[in-house]
This record gives sequence, C-alpha cells and structure tokens, in this order.
Amino acid sequence: MNIFEQLKEQKTIFKDKSYLDHRFIPETLPHRDEKIKLIAKHWVEALSNITPQDITIYGKTGTGKTAVAKYAAKQLEEVAAQNNLNIKIVYLRCTDYNTEYQILAKLCQELGKPVPYRGWTKAEVVNTFRNLFTNNILGEDLILIVILDEIDVILKNDGDNILYTLTRTDNVSITSISNYVDFKRYIKPKVKSSLRDREIVFPPYNAQQLNDILQERSKLSFNDGVIDEGVLSLCSALAAKEEGDARYALDLLKTSGEIADEKDSDVITENFVKEAKDLIEHNKIIDIVMTLPIQQQKVLEAITLLTYKKEEITSGLLYEVYQDLAKNDKVSYRRLFDFINELEMLGLISANTISRGRGKGRTNIITLQCDTDLIDQALIYKD
Ligand SMILES: Nc1ncnc2c1ncn2[C@@H]1O[C@H](COP(=O)(O)OP(=O)(O)O)[C@@H](O)[C@H]1O
Ligand SMILES: [Mg+2]
Repeated sequence: MNIFEQLKEQKTIFKDKSYLDHRFIPETLPHRDEKIKLIAKHWVEALSNITPQDITIYGKTGTGKTAVAKYAAKQLEEVAAQNNLNIKIVYLRCTDYNTEYQILAKLCQELGKPVPYRGWTKAEVVNTFRNLFTNNILGEDLILIVILDEIDVILKNDGDNILYTLTRTDNVSITSISNYVDFKRYIKPKVKSSLRDREIVFPPYNAQQLNDILQERSKLSFNDGVIDEGVLSLCSALAAKEEGDARYALDLLKTSGEIADEKDSDVITENFVKEAKDLIEHNKIIDIVMTLPIQQQKVLEAITLLTYKKEEITSGLLYEVYQDLAKNDKVSYRRLFDFINELEMLGLISANTISRGRGKGRTNIITLQCDTDLIDQALIYKD
C-alpha cells in the first residue's frame, strides 16, 4: 500500500485537527465579550464616518488579543459591507511586516494602489500612502483601521516612524497589540503625544476560563467520547500556571491527542497530558538552545560540563572552562556576564549572588535550570 494512503487510513481520535490550530478564529470567544465590546465601542465611530480613537491592547501571550482583534474586525467588516460604508480594516503582524516601508507598501496594496515591495525610497512610499488620503483617491469618506499586532517587533527593528506617519494621516486609526506592557518606551514623546490611544488590558485566563475555552474547541476537533474525564481540567490547570496562556492549553490538548494516536489509543488520558507537557517543554528548550549564537552555546556547554561534575559554578570557574571550549574565538570576561544574563532570561540557568561573609565580597553562583542530557542533545544537533 502507498505510504500516504496507509497514513491516511490510520485511525485517529481527531475529528478535525485544524480547529486546534493557532490561526483558527472561533465563532465565540468565551470570557472575552467585555473586551470585544470595548474595542467595538471605539470602532463604532467609523459607522458615523468619524475616525475612531487609537487603541492599545496589552496582555501576556495567549490571552486572546489577536483572536479578539480579528473577531471584532470581522464583525465591523460585515456591518460595513451591509451598509456600503467605506471602511477598510487591515490586520498586520509586525513579525511579517517589520519596517515602515513594508507596512506602508502593504497598506497601499490593500487599498488598491500597489507599490513595489522594494526599490522605492521610503519618502516615495510615504507620499503615495498619504496621497491616497489627502487627494481623496479612495473617496472622502474612507476610514482606515490599521491593526499592528506584535508592534514591539517593528518598534525595536525600525523605530517609531510608522506610528508617526500613520498618526499624521487623517482618517487613519491605529490599533496596536503588544505582549509587553513597557513597549511604549520605544516611542519618542513627540509620537506618543500624537497617538491618542485608549488602553485595553487583557488579563491572563484562570483555570476555569481555560477549561471553558477547551470545552468548546474540543467539541469541534475531537470525536465524541475520546477525552477522559479530568483531561481538560488538567490541561487548563497546567496552562493557568503558565500565565493563563490559552495557546499553551490548546497545544497541550492537541499534543495529547497526537500522543494518543501514536499509541493507537482510543482515548486521551491524563498521562498523555503529562507526556505532552514534557514533550512541549523539551522541544521548546531544544529550539532555544539550537538557535543560540555559537559563543553562548559554548558558555552553556561549559555550565553543563560543570554541572555533570557537580561543581559549584562561579563566574570565574565558568570562564576558565569556557575558555578551553571556545579556544580562539572566546569572548571577554565582561561579555560573559551579558551571556549569563541572557541565558537566565531564557530560563535556562539561574544566577544568584551570594555573600561569602564579611570582607570576602560577593560571588555569582550559576545553576542549570534544565536537564543536562537535554542540553547535551540540543548541542549535539548543532554540530
Ligand atoms: N476566549 C477565547 N476563546 C476561545 N479561544 C481563545 C480565546 N482566547 C484565546 N483563544 C485561542 O487561544 C490561542 C491564543 O490566542 P491569541 O489570540 O493568539 O493570544 P495572544 O494574541 O494574546 O497571544 C488562539 O488559538 C485563540 O484562538
Ligand atoms: Mg497574538
């Protein structure tokens, strides 16, 4: 039998896995009614041909920011179409469009005035975009709502020029979305003051709320009766601990289902959820380690070596071992501290300053925060 036919024939507990995909926007978003209404309250102005106030949405990963914004956008598009209103909503992820040029080029394209994605000067693109409005090319009544998701990416990559240009164009309303509360420190005061924004904060979901979300999604994506009692609440409880992240809850459920399929099981049990948790964690660490710059990997390798030897890891000792591993390309002792900070931020290690007692000064003690074998594995892949 053909390998693909064989795989297609294989039995599965999934009815339709695509409902567990991150990109899927459900018909209902439990526990986000209030946030949807808040956004709608600002955007509704567009129906009376008033440019809505700018909006800023904050909240940790997986709190439904993207889903809610897209949901509200779809609703507004529907009503605008029914009433023949000249309202355009463009959703952009700043990981995909991370310069002012790219964003404006995309906006021009969406508004029916394509500009080349490279080759023009920035001023040419800015002028083309602004001309669409100042010369009323698309009608005097056009209102454009731009959703800039993960806005911190463009601010870090390209500065705040895009906000400057957009806030200075009449009939344009900006909705920015960020995972970081402090992203505005990347915006210059001049630009900040022209951003007349209302802030909306998305709190993390609690376990009960995550459970409701999973209930709805599991009905769509799994065959009846394949989920053991306790599975959804375990996924929800684990995700509630991970900062109320709905994406993580959905990943857990999906991975648990895949494990069940792999084991030819007719049901998902709580044990599969635990395996799924380890697998996700495992893959996350491997991803992080594999994409570290080479000298950082050497530092991590040195920490792993010392951990095997059960040594107390001071920065001095670490630097000695690291030098051996890095040979000619080694970084300075001072730079090592930046690396230690970065590895700590990634959650791979922890660094604690301890006092050795009166007059003996303070020492940095480093501890590996994940399994040595796992780090070994990830480092081996690299070679
Ligand atoms: N209230 C909700 N109801 C149903 N699904 C939700 C809800 N909130 C989030 N999700 C789902 O969880 C995942 C993460 O949500 P997302 O909007 O991408 O989070 P964020 O943008 O805040 O990181 C998506 O698959 C989304 O569909
Ligand atoms: Mg998002």
